[in-house]
Amino acid sequence: MRQYDVLTLFPGFFQGPLSESILKRAQQHGIVRIAVHDLRSYAHDRHAVVDDRPYGGGAGMVLKPEPILDAVASLRRGQEPHLVLLTPQGRPFKQAVAKELVEHQHLLLICGRYEGFDERVRALLTPDEISIGDYVLTGGELPALVLLDAVIRLIPGVLGDEDSARYDSFVDTLLDFPHYTRPQSVQGLIVPDVLLSGDHERIRRWRRKEALRATKARRPDLLQQALLSEEDLELLEEIDGEQGVG
Ligand code: ADE
Repeated sequence: MRQYDVLTLFPGFFQGPLSESILKRAQQHGIVRIAVHDLRSYAHDRHAVVDDRPYGGGAGMVLKPEPILDAVASLRRGQEPHLVLLTPQGRPFKQAVAKELVEHQHLLLICGRYEGFDERVRALLTPDEISIGDYVLTGGELPALVLLDAVIRLIPGVLGDEDSARYDSFVDTLLDFPHYTRPQSVQGLIVPDVLLSGDHERIRRWRRKEALRATKARRPDLLQQALLSEEDLELLEEIDGEQGVG
């Protein structure tokens, strides 16, 4: 069973997200064990102080190194977990990173707060430092949840077969194609004919084309990196030919 430990000053952040939907089911089915640990319980003094003012002055507080080092030592339990530090300075989190992390049997996620970690935490633990995007959140808790969700859904057996096939965006670095369900007409907007045709080959081709169209329009950077087939190039030419028409 894969083990995910989280070290945080705010364990309450995790209660809701870990007790709903896929993450709840993965735990119930014994596929993953997730344990959230309060960093404050590793503090050295009776006031449970985990932060202090920065040497050199300046605004904000810095997380003290010892509680984090002690917590990591205690959570290692003889194993060597892959240590992940969530900070805006980390390497960018991408689907490829989620695929890499799912290979580890034991992750220990460390959530930062305030102005961040004492630099010696990095020097001594050499963690895998990860950022979920170029914006600054108030702490690493939401990033840790994002990472857990993206990683755990990749574990075989967590999503049903049908679900795995369904969540296709980014598997080949294209955006997803548009989806429709009943009713056929909503405020005059109707479902594209091809989807009602029952012709699986035409539907497959339409979906691929719309995925290419969406990616070209919204994320041309992804299209640059995508592995495109002969058919994809044909479809892109068709899309180019349509521009300005209608
Ligand atoms: N902590 C604060 N902001 C963050 C971000 N964007 N990614 C990861 N950890 C963070």
